[in-house]
Amino acid sequence: MGGNAPAEREPTCSTLIVAPVRQGAPKMNIGLIGYGRMGQAVERVAVARGHHIAGIVRADTPTLERERVAQDADALIDFSRADAVPAHVALALQAGKPLVIGTTGWDMQREAIAQQVHAARGSVLYAPNFSIAVQLFLQHAVNLAAQLLALEGWDMAIEEIHHRGKADAPSGTARALAQRLQRALTAPREAVYPVPATSRLPDHQVAVGVLRLGNEFGTHRLLLDGPYDWIEITHRAKSRDGFAYGAVRAAEWLRGRRGFFALEEILPEILAHREEH
Ligand SMILES: NC(=O)c1ccc[n+]([C@@H]2O[C@H](COP(=O)([O-])OP(=O)(O)OC[C@H]3O[C@@H](n4cnc5c(N)ncnc54)[C@H](OP(=O)(O)O)[C@@H]3O)[C@@H](O)[C@H]2O)c1
Repeated sequence: MGGNAPAEREPTCSTLIVAPVRQGAPKMNIGLIGYGRMGQAVERVAVARGHHIAGIVRADTPTLERERVAQDADALIDFSRADAVPAHVALALQAGKPLVIGTTGWDMQREAIAQQVHAARGSVLYAPNFSIAVQLFLQHAVNLAAQLLALEGWDMAIEEIHHRGKADAPSGTARALAQRLQRALTAPREAVYPVPATSRLPDHQVAVGVLRLGNEFGTHRLLLDGPYDWIEITHRAKSRDGFAYGAVRAAEWLRGRRGFFALEEILPEILAHREEH
């Protein structure tokens, strides 16, 4: 563990049901970058799966300590701040360690960072939402929309709700849903946030609604309105543990691989891998 004073503990809001890694599968030393709500959830899940925490990097952790954590870790998991992500990528590349990034809000730099990782033969996996159920939700929501919007008279909107402390809006998951819809629809619709209250939204745009409320862990909804039917497809996180679980599974998968990956690409492998109960 890092030498800094421990942060206030985040209470877990659900019973942690996590199978340990399969017998014989390698246990890892995991370095945590960011020790807020998500960093603490990752620690709980990683330890429950039998891994060790190599150290913790916080906002005020000095460079030498950051480098020590990176050296001691088999993999690093970052849930920190968008503006710190490039430095964390550089830390992982310099130490030659795989990095799982859960931090959102840095999408504008994604292409440049992916190129940097490829050039350095590094190993990075990013998902704006590490919930495996959310990845399946996204697939199904996009398929549903693509089929319904091919019919006449259908409209759609995206809605996301998160806790008051969330720094970015719309959420990375709402952005990912909007991007995937853009690619899947025959007549693409540009996502609009915030939705102007005083002007009419043209048909080629899709409204993204954002609510910030209490301690909400994360709700995403695709609303589909047709001439005769209304369909909503919703994912609601019951705690942060599902995001943490996906991030730890991603770190286990990433070990020994090189490249810049997205969770959706490796989902079939994660789903095919049976966990012991
Ligand atoms: N991908 C997903 O599945 C998923 C799920 C939930 C959240 N998220 C994203 O994950 C990020 C963190 O969320 P959270 O709810 O855990 O936020 P949080 O509770 O505010 O925690 C953020 C942590 O990052 C630390 N930090 C800030 N700058 C840092 C730096 N330069 N180096 C190291 N640590 C630094 C902060 O340290 P101090 O306390 O010392 O300031 C704090 O502990 C956000 O971008 C959020 O949107 C992603």
